[in-house]
Amino acid sequence: MNGFSTRAIHAGQAFDPTTGAVIPPVYQTSTFVQKSVGDLREGYEYTRGTNPTRDALQELIADLDGGNHGFSFASGLAAEDAILRALLQPGDHVLMGNDVYGGTHRLVNQILAAWGVELSTVEMSDVEAVRSAIKSNTKMLWVETPSNPLMKISDIEAVAAVGHKSNLTVVVDNTFATPALQTPLALGADVVVYSATKYLGGHSDVLGGLVVTSSEEIAQKVGFIQFAAGAVSAPWEVFLTIRGIKTLNIRMKEHSANATAVAQALVDHPAIERVYYPGLEDHPGHDVAAKQMKNFGGMVSIALKGGAAAAKAFAESTELFQLAESLGGVESLVNYPAMMTHASVAGTELEVPDNIIRLSVGIEDGDDLVADVLNALEQVSQA
Ligand SMILES: Cc1ncc(COP(=O)(O)O)c(C=O)c1O
Repeated sequence: MNGFSTRAIHAGQAFDPTTGAVIPPVYQTSTFVQKSVGDLREGYEYTRGTNPTRDALQELIADLDGGNHGFSFASGLAAEDAILRALLQPGDHVLMGNDVYGGTHRLVNQILAAWGVELSTVEMSDVEAVRSAIKSNTKMLWVETPSNPLMKISDIEAVAAVGHKSNLTVVVDNTFATPALQTPLALGADVVVYSATKYLGGHSDVLGGLVVTSSEEIAQKVGFIQFAAGAVSAPWEVFLTIRGIKTLNIRMKEHSANATAVAQALVDHPAIERVYYPGLEDHPGHDVAAKQMKNFGGMVSIALKGGAAAAKAFAESTELFQLAESLGGVESLVNYPAMMTHASVAGTELEVPDNIIRLSVGIEDGDDLVADVLNALEQVSQA
């Protein structure tokens, strides 16, 4: 099999046979002319069902994750919603990590719950805790590793083995790691899901969600929801995502190197209570991360000694790290989870401490990024 970058640049992306265009065309069309009633050209009928540009991305992500089937959605949450509705029934129980993206928890807790799905959360990095939290109606384990925002690490292989003993579907949100650093299907997961909005797109200019599986049964169900509920990605968004993925491997190396530099610069800083980065040797789960990831990624969270006031002041003091939701773009972003990305889980067991800052470390020059965070800390301590 070819290497990751070769596949990222070529899988699903054969040149256009009509013109020789190196880049497959963006099929910006809602529908396709039929030869005669029901006699379709290459099987294309209507873009909600299939579209050649979307097919290219679906083939690409399936290849990168070592799966048989890929599905592309309008956002990460649309992809998650399709998985949940395809694979669960009213009365089923989902066991979710206790530090997942707030919107994922909200989706199950506020939307699927109204349909009769039960939710509880567990310390997903503790395999014994997972085993004991499985109930007779548990049907799915929802694993996010590294998790958002506390960078908890779950042992995918161990958790999948526990889940499979009870016939559960094991879903891994691989948004933070991407297939460049971690391939959950190879570790035993059944389904991988992404917010492609983040590292896969990589340039903060597109929303998207992706699902990969090797199970024919799961693929059939997710594919049906994709078509029947229609939260598909549009051709132009797909084009941007494919374009982003071509450079995923080199971007993830740079993100990881810069995040390591930022984490190391902060770890002994007097204003910092704790740095959360799986690349640090004393990070809980570091050994598991080193085993299942090729590198440690671009996300770093920090807890400030000065509490909420210091955290908010820090978020407003950086210059290169811009204050915005989202992550995974080439540009660095700073986020205050308690009032931004994780505001929806305030008051739940997922509430994020109010002195936490999440940094999405971009691929600007590492020295500039380190200087920016140190300068922001200096300003906070003088205030
Ligand atoms: C880990 C993770 N999963 C899923 C999502 C949802 O993705 P989207 O915003 O593309 O719907 C996010 C968004 O921040 C995320 O961080």
